[in-house]
Amino acid sequence: MSRTLAIIKPDAVAYGYTGKIIAHLQSEGFRVLGLRMTRLTAEQAGEFYAVHRERPFYGELVEFMTSGPVVPIALERNDAVSTLRGVIGSTDPAEAAEGTIRKLYAESKGRNAIHASDSDENAANEIAFFFASSELV
Ligand code: RTP
Ligand code: MG
Repeated sequence: MSRTLAIIKPDAVAYGYTGKIIAHLQSEGFRVLGLRMTRLTAEQAGEFYAVHRERPFYGELVEFMTSGPVVPIALERNDAVSTLRGVIGSTDPAEAAEGTIRKLYAESKGRNAIHASDSDENAANEIAFFFASSELV
């Protein structure tokens, strides 16, 4: 078993897709270890996406991620990181495969419904960003 972090982004929360996306993740064999709803400050969103600090879309990304509540979810499954990347689909929903969460629920590359960790190391750091170990069940 391994772990990864998903975040249901502000667009999907605002459209009322939270329940459908959680059900989709569970149907793909993920167990929910931790879940909450929060609204990120600009400082938190900037830190979370610090790897993109020099990219032209960084300001927009931080603005979007702070535009409304988000739902971080710590998940467990075998091969969790790469499986979740497959389940969410390509960054740009126009390029995402049929049946993926971004194909189903995202509207654009900037407003793309869900985040997923991209390595085991980042997954551990990102889970710790949102959850104390005592909050993971
Ligand atoms: P995420 O980190 O949110 O799961 O997304 P990702 O791995 O699929 O994509 P990443 O390269 O990490 O980019 C993070 C987020 O930045 C926005 N982005 N915009 N306008 C652009 O060219 C562009 N490129 C990336 C996206 O919202 C992406 O999810
Ligand atoms: Mg990423």
